[in-house]
Amino acid sequence: MPILECQKVSKAYGGLLAVSELSFTVEPGEVYAIVGPNGAGKTSLFDCISGVNPATGGVIKFKDREIQHLRAHQISRLGLARTFQTTVAFDSQTVLTNVLVGGSFGRDGENPALRFTSQAQDDALDALALCGLGNQQRTLAGQLPVLARKRLMLATALAMRPQMLLLDEPFGGLNPAERAQMIELIRIVTRTGVTILMIEHVMKAVQALADRILVIHHGQQITIGPPSKVLRDRRVIEVYLGNVAPMGPEGVPADA
Ligand SMILES: Nc1ncnc2c1ncn2[C@@H]1O[C@H](COP(=O)(O)OP(=O)(O)OP(=O)(O)O)[C@@H](O)[C@H]1O
Ligand SMILES: [Mg+2]
Repeated sequence: MPILECQKVSKAYGGLLAVSELSFTVEPGEVYAIVGPNGAGKTSLFDCISGVNPATGGVIKFKDREIQHLRAHQISRLGLARTFQTTVAFDSQTVLTNVLVGGSFGRDGENPALRFTSQAQDDALDALALCGLGNQQRTLAGQLPVLARKRLMLATALAMRPQMLLLDEPFGGLNPAERAQMIELIRIVTRTGVTILMIEHVMKAVQALADRILVIHHGQQITIGPPSKVLRDRRVIEVYLGNVAPMGPEGVPADA
């Protein structure tokens, strides 16, 4: 049974149809990538799945339960967490506080204003350790460089102990050395059993991590398949790359 199922999901902003009848399924344990040009509707789709901005059409099932009408906190409590395209954090708070507060958002029975359970504290510390921030608990989030901010956002999502994680451009703004570290981190997360749905423009990262890729353009599906097939697909190269980027040996732009 798929962990996530989208059936003809649409998102309209007034007259603009950002997501148009998208259907796909994600299997447990997969790393599933969504690629497409700027404005293709990728983040809008994530907003629908995570309940941040609900779908205007279609059905979304998480673990066989319809979630398209649920609110964001209800969806995260079912075990579906997300990160954002721009790294969001409480900059004036410590790394540890960020993960405690964020992690408790997606957890039943927590009241962050009063106290955190010892389970919540354990999960926050585990998530920080997993994301390589174990030694930076007291650092203010606003002082972290870009890769560490991304690690923090990941740790905050993982502190909810999700079964599935939506990552919106986790490689955005990273240099090649940092990208390699992020690939390692995402591999570590998948090894803990978390299913990943990831929006990403950095093709080397997609190629390194994804089991399957969904390509969208103008909110519609272009193709779905394994990287070996999708990244060589002429329609994908034309639509996604505008047919202008020089190709590397794998059919991927040389600098991606
Ligand atoms: N809240 C909103 N209100 C109105 N229009 C929006 C809103 N959010 C996105 N859009 C529009 O919907 C379309 C899809 O945007 P979206 O952000 O989902 O694309 P994207 O694939 O994530 O792009 P990028 O790669 O640049 O992040 C765009 O035309 C965008 O301008
Ligand atoms: Mg986006």
